[in-house]
Amino acid sequence: MKVALFGPPGAGKGTQARYIVESYKIPQISTGDLLRAQVREGTDLGKMAKEYMDKGALVPNEVVIGMMKERISRDDCRKGFILDGFPRALSQAEALSRIVGLDAVVNITVDTSALIRRITGRRMCGCGATYHVDLNPPGQIGICDRCGGSLYQREDDSEATVKSRLEVYHTQTEPLVEYYRMKGLLKDVDGNRSIEEISSDIVDILAHIEGQ
Ligand code: AP5
Ligand code: MG
Repeated sequence: MKVALFGPPGAGKGTQARYIVESYKIPQISTGDLLRAQVREGTDLGKMAKEYMDKGALVPNEVVIGMMKERISRDDCRKGFILDGFPRALSQAEALSRIVGLDAVVNITVDTSALIRRITGRRMCGCGATYHVDLNPPGQIGICDRCGGSLYQREDDSEATVKSRLEVYHTQTEPLVEYYRMKGLLKDVDGNRSIEEISSDIVDILAHIEGQ
């Protein structure tokens, strides 16, 4: 199963990818997570990427495409993978199509007003778990209930940067919706619902594709 999760910042790509990872035992490949790991490690690539990420801009293709290519070529991707945050521009979609074909692109749609709240209220743990101040009881949002780690806010989750990220999404990434629709790969999912309802729709979509 080779699937890309598509949608604006805060749509719930990372949240839904975790459910698919558990059901299908295939890896989630998030370009955002890969880049943040480079930033944390203080590599040259991370230092360069941070300048773009802090502004909410796309990191240059020569970095991101090379990183994806290397990740997809690893053994754990032989049964498939879930892309999260890639491709994000037509040039990236074309590069991907030269490496591997996708079975489906799941497009999670969410109203813009809800996206800003989802992003500014998000809290992260170093183990990869994601929380939200509105979904977790007050007082329980400081510590990760999976690993006990301290939660933090992503540096690009400020309201000002979120607006730039949404703008970049609309101008550079959203045109890919039609690109994949024309290829017959796009599956729309209404993301203005609970995490469980969305997940149930995605499970049905993937089961249908697998049965084809
Ligand atoms: P990236 O990390 O990919 O960020 P993004 O696309 O902006 O998406 P997010 O991770 O913010 O949102 P999400 O859809 O994963 O939502 P989540 O599940 O966390 O990219 C960051 C940066 O890296 C980019 O700006 C760019 O600079 C660079 N980059 C990455 N990929 C690149 C590429 N291909 N090319 C160039 N540059 C690249 O959910 C959000 C919150 O909402 C959470 O708190 C969650 O708990 C909550 N939530 C989730 N679902 C629901 C629900 N149904 N109801 C209520 N709350 C919900
Ligand atoms: Mg994410």
